[in-house]
Amino acid sequence: MKAIVYNGPFDVSVKNVPDAKIVRPTDALIRITTTNICGSDLHMYEGRTSFEQGRIFGHENLGEVVEVGSGVERLKVGDYVCMPFNVGCGFCENCERGLTGFCLTANPGTAGAAYGFAEMGEWEGGQAELLRVPFADFNCLLLPPDAVEKEEDYVMLSDIFPTGWHATELAGLRPGDSVAIYGAGPVGLMAAHSAIIKGASQVFVVDTHPDRLALAEQMGATGINAVGDAAVQQILDLTDGRGTDCGCECVGYQCCNQHGHEDNSATMNSLVASTKATGGIGVVGVFIPQDPGAASELAKVGKMPFDFGSFWFKGQSIRTGQANVKAYNRQLARLIATDKAHPASIISHRLSLAEGPEAYRHFDDRDAGWTKVILKP
Ligand SMILES: NC(=O)c1ccc[n+]([C@@H]2O[C@H](COP(=O)([O-])OP(=O)(O)OC[C@H]3O[C@@H](n4cnc5c(N)ncnc54)[C@H](O)[C@@H]3O)[C@@H](O)[C@H]2O)c1
Ligand SMILES: [Zn+2]
Ligand SMILES: [Zn+2]
Repeated sequence: MKAIVYNGPFDVSVKNVPDAKIVRPTDALIRITTTNICGSDLHMYEGRTSFEQGRIFGHENLGEVVEVGSGVERLKVGDYVCMPFNVGCGFCENCERGLTGFCLTANPGTAGAAYGFAEMGEWEGGQAELLRVPFADFNCLLLPPDAVEKEEDYVMLSDIFPTGWHATELAGLRPGDSVAIYGAGPVGLMAAHSAIIKGASQVFVVDTHPDRLALAEQMGATGINAVGDAAVQQILDLTDGRGTDCGCECVGYQCCNQHGHEDNSATMNSLVASTKATGGIGVVGVFIPQDPGAASELAKVGKMPFDFGSFWFKGQSIRTGQANVKAYNRQLARLIATDKAHPASIISHRLSLAEGPEAYRHFDDRDAGWTKVILKP
């Protein structure tokens, strides 16, 4: 089969690799019809993780079941399914509680597994013609009859829509609340979409890319074209000096300060400053324990100069982590089926697998107009 393979920093190519296949009776084999490139892929693409050469990218996958193992009860050949980016077992202590982003089985010795991901287990990615899905009855979301018609919306259930939703959950957003979302990439835009669906009164989206902010505005959010103190000041001005009820981090450890330089504390310190006293902060942007390629000594070991004094004094709270996609994807699919959610609205490019390497370059450069790329193997 053809797949997008990681060759080293800033180098991916489409290669012929052995076909994915059923290994255990509980596996299913999926013919991928849509698979997305994600901001999480870029941390790996840039060589800023331990992702191994030769591995296949792709954790945002949708497709048709072409084969099931003898132990699969529910899925049938021909079903259209969307897979959460997390691999869960369904029976460990964390999966039982809905915390499938922290499965204790799928990546032994660690909490959490994913397809085509650094430090998340052996599972290969779906930027390929075929994908092996383990614990398939648990991991596959069976899509409604309009699966093909709304495929581009449903594929967003694999990651960014539930992740944006999770950001607002972690932040404790309630109807009527105001929220500041840092990052207008796909995840930040989905957090904005989620906040608006949930009935937020004011939604601010912070970034410096006008094309991405324009999408946020189309959704009904207010774009803040600034970073750092300038962004904070605008948010304070628009909330009578009080700050927002809650805030979301949708950028991660490679966030930049007002000078355009990487500073892993930039967004977290802005969030402390632009969130009201007692407000909640939800962090879905990825932060990692080791980052040898970082600019500062602290960041190299996963630490940051965090404004803990202000944070404590304001009595705020922070919640973090990978999204537990399965905790939300069924309900979010219903919002799509009933036309209440339109996550496909942020797609900028629909390309073939062969065009993948070019797409990685443009998306990684945050070239204007490259908001979200979906690939059709
Ligand atoms: N927790 C999860 O389950 C989960 C799932 C998917 C993605 N992620 C992570 O979410 C993050 C965002 O993903 P994405 O696909 O939207 O990525 P992206 O890289 O396309 O978007 C990030 C955006 O943040 C902006 N930015 C940089 N510094 C900023 C600052 N100081 N203030 C405001 N904006 C700033 C950039 O201009 C860019 O538009 C990544 O770290 C990704 O790995 C987490
Ligand atoms: Zn993703
Ligand atoms: Zn589990």
